[in-house]
Amino acid sequence: MSNMIVFGTQWGDEGKGKIVDILTEDAHMIVRYQGGNNAGHTLVTHGKTFILHLIPSGILHPDKICLIGNGVVLDPEVFCQEIDKLGASGISITPERLAISKKTHLIMPYHKALDQAREAAKSGQDKIGTTGRGIGPCYEDKMARIGIRAGDLQDLELVREKISKALVEKNSLLKTLYGQEPVDHQQVFEHIQGLAARLVPFLADVSEKIQQAAENGKSVLFEGAQGVQLDIDHGTYPFVTSSNTVTGNASAGAGYLYSMSRVIGVVKAYTTRVGQGPFPCEQDNEFGSHMQEKGAEFGSTTGRRRRCGWLDLVILREAVRLCGPTEIALTKLDVLSGLKTIRVCTGYKYQDRTILYPPQEENSMAGVTPVYEDLPGWDTDISSIKSWKDMPENAKNYVKAIEKHLNIRVSLISVGPDRDQTIRIS
Ligand code: GDP
Ligand code: IMO
Ligand code: MG
Repeated sequence: MSNMIVFGTQWGDEGKGKIVDILTEDAHMIVRYQGGNNAGHTLVTHGKTFILHLIPSGILHPDKICLIGNGVVLDPEVFCQEIDKLGASGISITPERLAISKKTHLIMPYHKALDQAREAAKSGQDKIGTTGRGIGPCYEDKMARIGIRAGDLQDLELVREKISKALVEKNSLLKTLYGQEPVDHQQVFEHIQGLAARLVPFLADVSEKIQQAAENGKSVLFEGAQGVQLDIDHGTYPFVTSSNTVTGNASAGAGYLYSMSRVIGVVKAYTTRVGQGPFPCEQDNEFGSHMQEKGAEFGSTTGRRRRCGWLDLVILREAVRLCGPTEIALTKLDVLSGLKTIRVCTGYKYQDRTILYPPQEENSMAGVTPVYEDLPGWDTDISSIKSWKDMPENAKNYVKAIEKHLNIRVSLISVGPDRDQTIRIS
């Protein structure tokens, strides 16, 4: 039995989906424990691309069980669309293979309306650049103890009542503060009622399922969404998402206390960020364009162009401190091929000092200056290389420099989007 967790170490989109898909071979069960359909996890197998927003990235393996934990916020409409899309690709999703915790909070149409109205009302630098999927407002209702949970779908009268109570406040905000049309109670109810019949068969006691797997000595793989710098507490607040993305949240968000034998931090070989907020190593120049174009850096959820920059070891040190990785999966190394010199940020200059971890005051990340170390690049296309020994010397040195700075071993290198474009280092 070997339990594993895969998490994003940067600002999301590190390639977690691909890594989870690969590691699923060694697992019995795959569990999402936070976030919602703000996530977009891309899997490419034999040239075919799948983008998953809610369903765990283990779903392409027909013999594995996938679970959506209580810490996730689930949009019922997106869930149904996702199973339909997978079904159309010949992947049939049954309640034997996929379950949703009864404690999972549901994203309602008014959460999305509020998310979008708030963003639209903010100007310039104040915008967070959310995905507009209602994530923040749904987590707010959970904390305010007025949320609607998946298990409530078994009692539609309760749902009707909860919608009615929630709308008193939401409509007041939408109308008075944001000048929007109010949301109609009956319409929301009918929309949810229509989807309930499809969702109810998937409801389960997720804690119990994980417990049974553990008692039978089966391996469980926990799939993180977003990245450490988007964590609600530890990220670049307020430019963050609304859940804890650190590995410590997996137990709470899945409903089972686990010890992990493998903690896999996914590190993109450079840095990207989608949405607003400070990004010290951002390269709004030819280097950033190289990464953006060669890495096809467009958001998997919103299609927005991702901002690109050099690898930031300061935020990675923070990810190590907060999440305790036992190993690193290094992705998109192929994208750096062709650059003469590759920079890595080893520290920040901040208020006349050099610091090795991000400063903690709000917006202080906007006031740091990166300190770089230059490493020689390589010209060879590495996207079809299958083993470590065949890698160009300078690519090996880049990987070794990351290991040295973080004192963590790189166990897997990804050199292209496909499952096959992966080098395991034993
Ligand atoms: P996630 O949210 O962390 O799962 O990452 P995304 O799927 O949003 O973004 C990663 C993107 O990079 C996807 O389009 C992947 O198909 C792609 N990708 C993953 N690994 C590699 C790699 O090693 N090389 C290249 N070129 N693309 C990759
Ligand atoms: P995956 O799992 C990249 C970003 C949004 C925005 C901020 C808040 O694919 O790595 P939200 O809609 O969550 O309230 O938006 O968080 N964001 C992501 N960026 N990858 C993601 O997920 C993200 N999920 C949210 O762009 O800046
Ligand atoms: Mg993504």
